[in-house]
Amino acid sequence: MKTAILYASKHGAAKKCAELLKYKIFGSELVDIKEKPDFDVMPFDTIIIGGSVYAGRLRPVVIKYCAKNIELLKTKKLGLFIVCMMEKGQAERELKNNFPAELYERATAKDYFGGIFDFSKLNFLERFVVRKIVKVKESVFRIKEEKISAFAEKLR
Ligand SMILES: Cc1cc2nc3c(=O)[nH]c(=O)nc-3n(C[C@H](O)[C@H](O)[C@H](O)COP(=O)(O)O)c2cc1C
Repeated sequence: MKTAILYASKHGAAKKCAELLKYKIFGSELVDIKEKPDFDVMPFDTIIIGGSVYAGRLRPVVIKYCAKNIELLKTKKLGLFIVCMMEKGQAERELKNNFPAELYERATAKDYFGGIFDFSKLNFLERFVVRKIVKVKESVFRIKEEKISAFAEKLR
């Protein structure tokens, strides 16, 4: 069973989650779809795809990739993930709303993995939003490794 893990990250948290998945799924291939937007998943049996969420929206390259390759993705065993700082109901809505319903409904694994607010990486506007709107004043590292393990287990 060949597995490809496709991800898009802005400041590295989604990349870290994708790397953790790769570590847990032996022999899987990691693909940054910002660098390879035309990556061909045809030779793979299982496709994991995800990325980080900003202002409620998944990274645009992930949205575009799913829309463009939907027919092929529907024929594969699928895992969908988001990396985000919202929790529970809000995170579940972000997950559901950011993937096409046809993929969301047929995915074998789908989950949110938590995320990171890393002030050393955020730009001025992002720092402002996080401080003033989210009311978080310093860096927070909240990647939920147990969720990543359970997700990988479902797809192995
Ligand atoms: C400006 C800004 C807006 C964000 N908006 C959301 C949001 O709408 N929902 C959410 O769950 N997380 C939100 N986040 C949290 C990010 O999803 C989180 O920091 C994530 O780890 C970023 O991943 P990345 O480093 O791979 O880009 C936001 C973060 C920033 C800095």
